[in-house]
Amino acid sequence: MKKIAYSQIILLVLLLTPNQLLAQNDLKITHGPYLVDPAEDAMTVVWFTNENCVSWIEYAESKNSSTFPTWGGYPEIAKSSNQGLIDANTKKHVIRIKDLETGKTYKYRVASKEILKFGPYEVLYGETVVGDISQFTTLDPAATNFSFGVIADLHEDAKIVSDLNKIAPLNVYDLIFLNGDILSWIGDEERIFNGFLDASVEHFAKEKPFIYIRGNHETRGANARGIMSYFPHSSGKNYYSIMHGDVHFIVMDSGEDKPDAHPVYAGLVDFDSFRSEQAEWLRKEVQSESFRNAGYRVVIFHMPLSDDSTRHGPYDIGQKWGPILNQAKIDLVVNGHKHRYKRTDKNDGEYSFSTVVLGKRMILDTKVSDQDLTFSVKNTEGELVDSFTIQKYEPTKASDW
Ligand SMILES: [Fe+2]
Repeated sequence: MKKIAYSQIILLVLLLTPNQLLAQNDLKITHGPYLVDPAEDAMTVVWFTNENCVSWIEYAESKNSSTFPTWGGYPEIAKSSNQGLIDANTKKHVIRIKDLETGKTYKYRVASKEILKFGPYEVLYGETVVGDISQFTTLDPAATNFSFGVIADLHEDAKIVSDLNKIAPLNVYDLIFLNGDILSWIGDEERIFNGFLDASVEHFAKEKPFIYIRGNHETRGANARGIMSYFPHSSGKNYYSIMHGDVHFIVMDSGEDKPDAHPVYAGLVDFDSFRSEQAEWLRKEVQSESFRNAGYRVVIFHMPLSDDSTRHGPYDIGQKWGPILNQAKIDLVVNGHKHRYKRTDKNDGEYSFSTVVLGKRMILDTKVSDQDLTFSVKNTEGELVDSFTIQKYEPTKASDW
């Protein structure tokens, strides 16, 4: 009996292809895809597989759906390569689709092919897995009547994403800003997936891009130095601007709250100089044509410029960024960090712009029109925490600048 069973096993092994012998598990897309770093002419897509793969994206402009019912057009292929080598043999897949048209909707799906063996002169491929067809729209400076959302301080409570989605679907926003302390510290990858990412993919991030702004908590933990590679920006920086519709968005990284020399950082942080570096960038950014010609200017970063405490971080950004923003015709600065909602109106205090400090379990819902920005702050209970409007600033003469 034993002899027959043994020969059956031998026969089965002989019938299997080398690829099937090497494959350990069924190939799966385990997380994503999600969209980051939106631009007028590009979009970055990120996803994960359970095995090492080489990956690509199939995409097409969805304009001829009667002629091409599935894709709308002939699908093109986007891959990612660096220094002549196509990204391969990895479970994390990051591909930027480039040369897109402004304000156009594209259909896309991700695809990954398993690499069973990666020898110097022989690569053995396994199965290919493809995702569902989804779609995204590139940014457009001519967009009118759109909306964006800001959420802060999830602290790995992914249920907040689902609860907010129940109050109002999150996939209505053209952009969602995740304004820091979305994670409490950076350890293994599962914390990212379970903490907010899988819930975000489920509710919006497959089809609407998010902008991940680092908070002080995301600077902590053994893997903090790699966290922004999950939400990469093509500038390679954590501070940059985005133009969509008539809104010039500036996002910045306020760093840690305590002094760099504090013992909890063990001599491993350098945020004073990082905040100075951003001040230099900001000084130039507010002089840029795009910033000066924008109808609205919204600045988003995690820690408030002054937070009624003696914390060093907020004090440092208040000293370094506050004066530049004060002279720059900013409409609104949006922060988080305090876990308590607070709004100050333009010229109410020491700043020439309005400020919002978001609390936990809430979203800043913003409607952009030709005339004004209309803000509603809603919490996960469905309550309207606050609402206000900012009229478009129309300079009447050059000296207004
Ligand atoms: Fe914080």
